[in-house]
Amino acid sequence: MNEIVTNDKGIPQPKRKRGRPRKRPLEAHETVKPVANEQVVAQEDRKPELAPEPKAPKKAERAASVTIPPHYWQNIQGWCKFHLFYGEMVARAGQEATFVEVGCWKGQSAAYMGVEILNSGKDIAFHCVDHFQGSDEDAHKNDPEVRNLKAVFEENMKPCVQAGLDLTVHTSDSEKAASKFKDGSIDFVWLDAGHDYHTVKRDIVAWLPKVKAGGIIGGDDYPMKGVGDAVREVLGVEVNISEYDGWKYWHMPVEAD
Ligand SMILES: C[S@@+](CC[C@H](N)C(=O)[O-])C[C@H]1O[C@@H](n2cnc3c(N)ncnc32)[C@H](O)[C@@H]1O
Repeated sequence: MNEIVTNDKGIPQPKRKRGRPRKRPLEAHETVKPVANEQVVAQEDRKPELAPEPKAPKKAERAASVTIPPHYWQNIQGWCKFHLFYGEMVARAGQEATFVEVGCWKGQSAAYMGVEILNSGKDIAFHCVDHFQGSDEDAHKNDPEVRNLKAVFEENMKPCVQAGLDLTVHTSDSEKAASKFKDGSIDFVWLDAGHDYHTVKRDIVAWLPKVKAGGIIGGDDYPMKGVGDAVREVLGVEVNISEYDGWKYWHMPVEAD
């Protein structure tokens, strides 16, 4: 039931709302002084402070919580005779870098590079490019695993990936994969895909602009005629030739334009 409120002369009055009394509107000459009560209300209105979000562990902390595998590349079939050069590339890289290997086969050289990167503690993004179809070379055609090449590669890279390697696999033709990278964005690119003159020339032309000034481009199999001819034709005399265990590879620092 509604209650009628009257004043002391018995005249009905408008009903007052419960709670804080409504303030009288201010006259033009009046100002409001803060009162203690208002300060308390302001504090009550403040949202309770949230507990800080747990921060993502830094790379060094992550590394401490996973076990980096010892080198296992020798257990993988392949043709990597340039592993010491891969180690040098990791050592000369800055704290953050982008590396690309073109031609990965079952992952022998990639697994070596992966463990080197993990051991370095550097933030090196490692891109592996291969169409995983092998080639017309007998060693590829006659290998029974060529039908499952990508699966074999991925299996062989698992220990590195599980230890935190930042690996991107591009199942693609070399030239097409190169077009996905920005010019001047790569610190180190290694070419070990096709070995005939036209393919190697095409690969050097496609990847060279992607390497940043101060970066390195290189590749395996310099003694093969197609490789040597293409390298000399496109890169000229500035290219360096190194040798390991009787086998030569080529490499060249990229200068600013
Ligand atoms: C010599 S093997 C790579 C060997 C590997 N680096 C190692 O250390 O064992 C060449 C690889 O290049 C790949 N390949 C050949 N031509 C290619 C192309 N045009 N684009 C992408 N991959 C290619 C083949 O599928 C093969 O896996």
